[in-house]
Amino acid sequence: MKPAYLAFTLSALVPSVYGWGANGHMTVGFVAMPFLSPKALSFVQTSLGSTYNKSLGPAATWADEVRSQTAFSWSAPLHFVDAEDNPPTSCSVSETRDCSNGECILTAIANYTTRVVDQSLSAEQIQEALKFLGAFMMFLGDITQPLHVEALKLGGNDIAATCSGSSSNLHAVWDSGIINKLLAANYGNSVNTWANTLVTRIKTGTYKSIASSWISCSSITTPVSSRRSIEEDIFDILVLRPRAITPLECPLVWAQDSNAFDCSFVFNFSAGQDLCTSSYFTNAVPIIEQQIAKGGYRLAAWLNVLFDGATNLP
Ligand SMILES: *[C@@H]1O[C@H](CO)[C@@H](O)[C@H](O)[C@H]1NC(C)=O
Ligand SMILES: *[C@@H]1O[C@H](CO)[C@@H](O)[C@H](O)[C@H]1NC(C)=O
Ligand SMILES: *[C@@H]1O[C@H](CO)[C@@H](O)[C@H](O)[C@H]1NC(C)=O
Repeated sequence: MKPAYLAFTLSALVPSVYGWGANGHMTVGFVAMPFLSPKALSFVQTSLGSTYNKSLGPAATWADEVRSQTAFSWSAPLHFVDAEDNPPTSCSVSETRDCSNGECILTAIANYTTRVVDQSLSAEQIQEALKFLGAFMMFLGDITQPLHVEALKLGGNDIAATCSGSSSNLHAVWDSGIINKLLAANYGNSVNTWANTLVTRIKTGTYKSIASSWISCSSITTPVSSRRSIEEDIFDILVLRPRAITPLECPLVWAQDSNAFDCSFVFNFSAGQDLCTSSYFTNAVPIIEQQIAKGGYRLAAWLNVLFDGATNLP
């Protein structure tokens, strides 16, 4: 058995072609940690244990690592929702249109939300649920990656792109190309430094005034009277419709939030433009940093509601 620290270090070096790359996922996990309230924190530490240094950060890459294994191939469709929309002209996510077979990131979030608190499951199954949910974190993480909420050209995998002089594709540029360059340029290649910076922005900096809108899960156009909360989503799936594996309101709104970038920004480049050195990079960075911060903050809020009964966040 590899020491946890070694596994963590190696996984950090393996470039991922799935979901936010390993660095994006770990950062989402590390951002979530300081926002967990007592019972959620205690659950996370106990369930993940020393294998993951009691932290959602190191556990965040597990779901991407296993999805290529035969035993977990069933989980591959759970990492995204292929929105059959038409960017950049029109963007939308619809659970009936885009997740009709019941296997997508939206149903997976519902599934692992129920499983993580299901006392009839084994400790191993609960840890798996947390990693999926905490892979849910990855899912809450992936759901903030615009190209995980897009069907066009296989979520951009079939769109050629250049990153720092290397041939790549649009999906990979978003998963890891831009993030890896940003980490090297601004954060000394440390996901911990990046995560701490994002946490500080949420607590006292540029994200402070907007963070509450990230965890209110109704679109701005929804009348205040019919807005939905994380608490209502959790009550719905645990109490009103126990184990109903259908998309919940908050993840759907969050998917729509990411998918909107597919119309406003993601496809706005010209053939031959280097997406990791040009103005595309400069303009993508604030979007990606905010999406990663949102992923961590939402994950903490979700776990806090599940274990402590309230988001306990400003
Ligand atoms: C494990 O977590 C502790 C406390 O958060 C931290 O100080 C330490 O650096 C972590 N170890 C590794 C190998 O990441
Ligand atoms: C729910 O979780 C179980 C256990 O991991 C898995 O077998 C099943 O495929 C999941 N279903 C969905 C829709 O995510
Ligand atoms: C789209 O790209 C053009 C050319 O680089 C730029 O002027 C414009 O501001 C971009 N639009 C958005 C929404 O980023």
